Amino acid sequence: MPVAFVHVFLRWLRRLLLGVLVLVALWGVGRLGQVAWQSAYDGAREPYLQVVSHDGITLRWQSGEEEIGVVRYGTDPARLEHVVRETTARLSHEVRLAGLQPATRYYYAVGTDAAVYRGGPDYWFHTAPPPGDRGPIRLWIQGDPGYWHEGTRTVRDAALQWSAQHPRSGRPPFDLWLTTGDNAYSSGKAREFQEALFEPYAALLRNIPYLPVYGNHDARRWTFYRVFSFPAAGEAGGVPSGSERYFSFDYANIHVVVLDSESGDLSADGPMLRWLQQDLAANRLPWTVALFHHPPYSRGGHNSDSWRDSWGRMVDMRTTFLPVLEAGGVDLVLSGHSHVYERSHLLACHYGRADTLRPEMVLDSGGGGPEAPYRKPAGRAAHGGTVYAVVGSTAKLDAGPLDHPVHAVNRRELGSLLIDVEDARLDAYFINAHGQVSDRFRIVKSADIAPVERRCGTGR
Ligand SMILES: [Fe+2]
Repeated sequence: MPVAFVHVFLRWLRRLLLGVLVLVALWGVGRLGQVAWQSAYDGAREPYLQVVSHDGITLRWQSGEEEIGVVRYGTDPARLEHVVRETTARLSHEVRLAGLQPATRYYYAVGTDAAVYRGGPDYWFHTAPPPGDRGPIRLWIQGDPGYWHEGTRTVRDAALQWSAQHPRSGRPPFDLWLTTGDNAYSSGKAREFQEALFEPYAALLRNIPYLPVYGNHDARRWTFYRVFSFPAAGEAGGVPSGSERYFSFDYANIHVVVLDSESGDLSADGPMLRWLQQDLAANRLPWTVALFHHPPYSRGGHNSDSWRDSWGRMVDMRTTFLPVLEAGGVDLVLSGHSHVYERSHLLACHYGRADTLRPEMVLDSGGGGPEAPYRKPAGRAAHGGTVYAVVGSTAKLDAGPLDHPVHAVNRRELGSLLIDVEDARLDAYFINAHGQVSDRFRIVKSADIAPVERRCGTGR
């Protein structure tokens, strides 16, 4: 009897396992189909600008049906004498314009040989100044902007209004437009990118080069890397990374580094960290700004000390990447993920938990306002001081204690960050949805400040 019972039980168990396997396989196929289907969009998409350099830019748009795309461009809107044609018919168009003049406004039209889809005096872009140019340069940083609603519209308009009130002769409202990730909630679907970005921002996307950072919500579908172009081959300066997921580029006197804290290998012997070391060693520009989604210091919606929070990615970025970034002289690190605004003192060598912060790691706790700016040695001094800002509240607000000891300023309000860089001075302004400058900090570099050799441990 017991033997027969065991046989019956084993047969039943086999059928159960088979049933579970079939269900898992069906779920997997269904999920794959859902991801593929929701990552595609076959409607029209307005032109947008990518990968700007001092001598080139990439234009992208999508047509309602497959066709050979044509871009006409020139410095006179009445005479677009240059023409670039694609070689095959397609829906999603990507055309690189090369051999352009630096710091120059070009007008353009996109379409086919037979018709112009979009063009006219409102369709223009500016090429970057030559590498090393002293500026002034203005960056606009949106943090986790993936919902379009009244608040996001107000944040956008407040940033545009501030820029209009502080114009730079002959320059657009922003030279570059970057984000800190989570660009289309809740799942980075193609339709969500249309609703959160391409449709509401169409008038800005046609003029200002746009560079989004990859966030965890973008990673839920395949849309992100299909619709955006990135300088993986050093198209705009920097050491070529060979990856669209992490890369660098130069804009005037700013070296911009973008890292993938979401899906990248964050280990100390991984390719991203090895590339970062090479890239920072080769950098000769006076300012370095790094962006990635997961903040190394946050007590907003996320806790950067927790290994359980976001799979430990905040801990990994702090312990593994911050020592390399600081050794490479990075001035400013921008992240999102926590839907708040947090901005640090001038820091060096703090790679551990919040409770391991020691007084000597805070190089300047004066707040960094224009009356008492953070002062650093000229150039790219290793561990010469870095400011960390969590810019994650362009579209959403989180609850959180906002009590991380590295931060000088904590705000729970919608807003975005504007950064002006001119010669040896960097000014940053957090503009909230009411149009107020809710935080302001300045970093000044001076040959009068002697570099200090610091031996930093690790956070592990
Ligand atoms: Fe996130």
